Amino acid sequence: MPTTVVVGLQWGDEGKRKIIDLFAQRADVVIRCNGGNNAGGTIVNGHGEVILHLIPAGILNPAALCIIERGVTIHPPSLVEEMELLESRNVSLKQLKISPYAHLVMPWHIAEDRGQEIMAIRGTTLRGIGPCYQDKAGRRDALRVGDLWNKRRFFTFLESIWRKKARELAGNYGVTMEDFSTIRIQYAEARERLLPHIEQDPQRLIRKALEKNREILLEVAHGLLLDMDYGTYPYVTACNTTSAAACHIAGVSPREVTKIVGVAKAYLTRVGPGPFPTELHSEQGSRLRELGKEYGATTGRPRRCGWLHLPLLQYACRVNHVTEIALTKLDILGLLPAVRLGVGAKYRNDDPFSLWRIDEMAPCYQEYEGWGSISECNFRDELPAEAIRYLNAIQENITRPINYISTGSERKRIIVF
Ligand code: IMP
Repeated sequence: MPTTVVVGLQWGDEGKRKIIDLFAQRADVVIRCNGGNNAGGTIVNGHGEVILHLIPAGILNPAALCIIERGVTIHPPSLVEEMELLESRNVSLKQLKISPYAHLVMPWHIAEDRGQEIMAIRGTTLRGIGPCYQDKAGRRDALRVGDLWNKRRFFTFLESIWRKKARELAGNYGVTMEDFSTIRIQYAEARERLLPHIEQDPQRLIRKALEKNREILLEVAHGLLLDMDYGTYPYVTACNTTSAAACHIAGVSPREVTKIVGVAKAYLTRVGPGPFPTELHSEQGSRLRELGKEYGATTGRPRRCGWLHLPLLQYACRVNHVTEIALTKLDILGLLPAVRLGVGAKYRNDDPFSLWRIDEMAPCYQEYEGWGSISECNFRDELPAEAIRYLNAIQENITRPINYISTGSERKRIIVF
């Protein structure tokens, strides 16, 4: 049985959740590995439109065990809100398990994200994710899911950190946060709700599934270009977003992984600042944004739009050791009268590749005519010739098969090769 990793190959928002949902329908275990509620993705299926931030997309498969593992940063009130939304849609949460080792996002993390000028310059989602990972790495003032088990100890610790952080926030950034009693009520409610889902030893469940040859799916949030080490630093998120990082967090040996599916949008988008060599500043960019509804699922911010950039895509495939590609929103791109594809004349497979030089990476472009609507195409052969030409150019360049093409937001709008 395969162990599959699904990773994003761009700056997030590649449409990973739709692909994860596809695999999750037959998975036995789905593991969310990283990030927090800074990530967000929409799934459209029998449950209507569902936006998930923290809960693995596998939750829509009642038979799949869904684990939020230790690399995820969890804001308890937001997780509870998401759980309630799912329950209101009759989605069962019986199979949801949370690692006790995952760190908690606390109100001071959100206040720090809002208060620090540098966070605004980085264009963070203001969900407190960076400051939470910072305290985790700092090994101080950190609370983890497992701390919720001991109520007295948890609130004593919470109060003492709150006092210290309230002083620091006021002194350093002139920022205030909620008073302790408000936070206490908020976290006490969330604690009650989360306790039944905390799993003593999620690794045991994962190992058992591996031993029984069950189908396992590792869900990686964000995208390679937002990775702390491999992305466009410092305009990145505060964790690792690679397939290898997912194995590390899930406790799955890289040797046990059978498939690494890289998800890329047929064009590029990015929220927040940072380099973007193929960005469209013209009317075409706005058109793409409107056609693709390119507004952040978490913050509603308009996404910057541009053409696909093959050297960056190739880099993301290499770092992630991608075995196959899922290309999303090909239907949207084809609605433009003319399409361009950024090919790197200067960058070949064996050339040194350096993100230090990303600003010099303005590529040469190949031109295509828009291929019009493909939402009724169910097989590759039914795709218009110009769309096939576009796909072939990508495939030849990145030397990985494109095995999935998403042609619309609904679950059934996908061509599987
Ligand atoms: P943070 O993750 O909130 O600290 O934000 C750091 C950078 O990552 C900002 O540019 C965000 O817009 C971006 N970012 C974080 N999560 C996502 C995501 O899921 N999709 C797209 N961009 C994201």
